[in-house]
Amino acid sequence: MSVLEQIAELKKDLGGKPLKAYFYDLTALTRHVQRFVQALPPQCRYFYAIKANSEHAMLEALAPHVHGFEVASIGEVHRVRAVSLEAPIIFGGPGKADEELEGAIDQRVTLLHVESLHELARLEEIAGRKGAVMDILLRVNLRGPLPSGTLQMAGVPTQFGIDEQVIGAAIRQALRCAHVRLQGFHFHSLSNNLDVEQHLKMVGHYARKARSWADEYGFELRYINAGGGVGVNYADLAAQFDFETFAAALPDQLQAAGEGVTVLFECGRYAVASCGYYATEVLEIRHNHGQWYAVVEGGLHHFLLPGAWKHTHPMTVVPVERWPYPFERPEVQHQAVTVAGKMHMPKDILAHQVQIERLRAGDLLLFPYAGAYGWAISAHDFSDLEYPELIYYT
Ligand SMILES: Cc1ncc(COP(=O)(O)O)c(C=O)c1O
Repeated sequence: MSVLEQIAELKKDLGGKPLKAYFYDLTALTRHVQRFVQALPPQCRYFYAIKANSEHAMLEALAPHVHGFEVASIGEVHRVRAVSLEAPIIFGGPGKADEELEGAIDQRVTLLHVESLHELARLEEIAGRKGAVMDILLRVNLRGPLPSGTLQMAGVPTQFGIDEQVIGAAIRQALRCAHVRLQGFHFHSLSNNLDVEQHLKMVGHYARKARSWADEYGFELRYINAGGGVGVNYADLAAQFDFETFAAALPDQLQAAGEGVTVLFECGRYAVASCGYYATEVLEIRHNHGQWYAVVEGGLHHFLLPGAWKHTHPMTVVPVERWPYPFERPEVQHQAVTVAGKMHMPKDILAHQVQIERLRAGDLLLFPYAGAYGWAISAHDFSDLEYPELIYYT
């Protein structure tokens, strides 16, 4: 079934209640993920970063097609374990409490990304108490210059990882540990990069850095985690990151890492954005101070992404013919319309001044590419407004 057929089905079930829902096409999801995972060269592995969308049905659909999952909290470890007791997990995050480090050991996390010397010392102590040995990657905050993305985690001052300038001290400390085994390095420097060439260069830079540190300090480099950050082009849906070209050029860039090194990718957005749609019903058409507004049943409390990134999310109008009232239906034609949510704040804007042919109260707006950082990052309980339906279909 298509998303429009799914919407029609849900509409029937709702009677007259306004529609607000996410729709996830699980067939499209698994096809897309299979395609890009299969494009990767043999020395690479793909771990899905579940922060992009950690709903059970998504993880269940993805589990057979990925090499494992990347998590950022012990809560996320449990979400993965609810789907698979065996799936490999890599666990990162700028601040981990002792109980998270303990939980990582108890839940058999495969690799822990250590982000500071202090965290390294605590992990050694905790693993020692448990009589365990934990495999780690040191997360490096490189000095740059690095390509720019919508969000920047390295190459500029941020709270993430170990400053490249003190990585030597971190490596020496890790190599002295009895309960921590240094396996390589983790680099996640940016989010939403759309430039294939820049992404390749960045990965090549990671490979050269990791190899030089392994040689300098004399340990076996087993893994490089090249992070996530492959972008989604929300401004032009037809011009997406060309993953096949990226994957085909990777072996050249990775040569510098040397033999026997496994390279991990932990993309979130690129995997799940395209399979998700957010739909919401128009409650009001309003003209204020010379501008047209459509106020919808949903808003940023369901779909924070356009607000967080201050972008106009792409959308289409889904006309609904049913009009239950005996009076004229509010409508706007051939105008630029701003789409606002129903929260009591002016920032609740999903799309700014979009040229619309025709929009009526009771029509639906459908936002594609809403599968990543949509429901997962939104302020669900603000103002006690109702949650959207989450519909998964194949
Ligand atoms: C450490 C780490 N890895 C992977 C990701 C996933 O990034 P993206 O969804 O941009 O691929 C994030 C996102 O913030 C992250 O912090």
